Amino acid sequence: VTRIKIKELLDEGVARQDATVKGWVKTKRGSKNVAFIALNDGSTIRNLQLVVDLTQFSEEEVKHVTTGACISARGNVAESQGKGQSVEMLVTNLTVYGIADPEKYPLQPKKHSFEFLRDNAHLRPRTNTIGAVLRVRHALAFAIHNFFNSKGFYYLHTPIITGSDAEGAGEMFRVTTLSADNPPKNEEGQVDFKEDFFGKETNLTVSGQLEGEAGALSLGEIYTFGPTFRAENSNTSRHLAEFWMVEPEMAFYEQGENMDLAEEFIQYLVRYALENCKDDLEFLDKRAADEDKQKPQNERNEMSLLERLNFVVENKFERVTYTEAIEILLNSKPHKKKKFKYPVEWGIDLQSEHERFLVEKHFKKPVIVVDYPKDIKAFYMKLNDDNKTVRAMDVLFPGIGEIIGGSQREDNYDKLIQRMEEMDVPQEELWWYLDLRKFGSAPHSGFGLGFERMILFVTGMSNIRDVIPFPRTPQSANF
Ligand code: 4AD
Ligand code: MG
Repeated sequence: VTRIKIKELLDEGVARQDATVKGWVKTKRGSKNVAFIALNDGSTIRNLQLVVDLTQFSEEEVKHVTTGACISARGNVAESQGKGQSVEMLVTNLTVYGIADPEKYPLQPKKHSFEFLRDNAHLRPRTNTIGAVLRVRHALAFAIHNFFNSKGFYYLHTPIITGSDAEGAGEMFRVTTLSADNPPKNEEGQVDFKEDFFGKETNLTVSGQLEGEAGALSLGEIYTFGPTFRAENSNTSRHLAEFWMVEPEMAFYEQGENMDLAEEFIQYLVRYALENCKDDLEFLDKRAADEDKQKPQNERNEMSLLERLNFVVENKFERVTYTEAIEILLNSKPHKKKKFKYPVEWGIDLQSEHERFLVEKHFKKPVIVVDYPKDIKAFYMKLNDDNKTVRAMDVLFPGIGEIIGGSQREDNYDKLIQRMEEMDVPQEELWWYLDLRKFGSAPHSGFGLGFERMILFVTGMSNIRDVIPFPRTPQSANF
């Protein structure tokens, strides 16, 4: 008998004569003569109930079937009397693959805090919540490839090790070639970090965009999807040191087309999850509602998770310029009589309180803000005719803030050089990037979607550390 996944078995519903399932014990309860085991194998959030007639098994055979143990069970599938489940398995054979000492197993059959689970990142995918989140994460990753493939975009693999600081923010992790046995030393005998990548100074990439532009200016439309790194020591629920980014880059797209693509892309992803992750999203919807009930009235979500997801799919995003957004903020009071903590004036970088006010209180829908002041954005963004603003675009989401950052790129060689000089961006290592403006330049645009922020929105989770399998933050325990 080959193994059948619990999802398939439960979906089939009909009684099978004989089936084998393998998975991890969630709970065991029962009486002297019968044990009920809830088994999960990761294929679905639903458990299969195993019914074990204890008169047919020796104590030795069942004593190790405890929460966390991995077992194989064979038996007949029958209609279930229990509510909430179509079928159950009447077990005839039981094998324990791996015991889990009930005294020591960290995941007791009770509710654990997310902080505790983060310290047990290697075991937490066995919990209902993290299991559901990781299945949704997979579905969204798959949907990303589907979306771009169907539009004729090529998946371009951009380097992880790079010499350039794409965002010019200086938040990079250095890469070195130090060998443990024989690290290069300077005259004082200290390890010489200048050696770096065989003599070159290199970092972990903060963005695949610059290389992505080279792809777009030859293949037409490309996207990257990979890990990116930011050495920011920020302890927020929206930042990771290692996160995944999706970065489409398109030749011949101008700002408006860039916005259209960003909106269509996000709506596609949400719709895909709604259609393909029903069980998990229903579970996460309840979880989010329970969490909401713990919050003070004014911090609760007006809509449930599923309502929020449907809302995004069914409504167009609002589009405003930065200047209009500042006007709105200047004429608004975020809380009765109170002002924003961070004073609003033209030229400031929008803070999360401003972004969230625009999205959650003013427009009450996702907002795309364009044409930011040039001084607060990266060197590569195309200068507008006003000489003050650039063709930047940020997509702001309820509960999240910035989910996408992008722009039309400066495609004029002289203007780009001028911006680099103004912003002190070193030109030597970006010689190849400048080449792209010398040889066959073209208008082009692109954006970056923070994958984890997207998952936060779709799953209704509160902390970005809980939507990536092994979060890399200054506090991570599982390095
Ligand atoms: O706005 P960012 O820094 O833009 C870029 O890196 C561009 N090169 C993208 C492009 O145009 N191709 O980052 C893009 C998105 C943000 O909107 C946010 O969703 C996410 O990446 N992001 C982070 N997510 C998690 N942790 C962090 N530390 C993040 N920093 C940015
Ligand atoms: Mg940004």
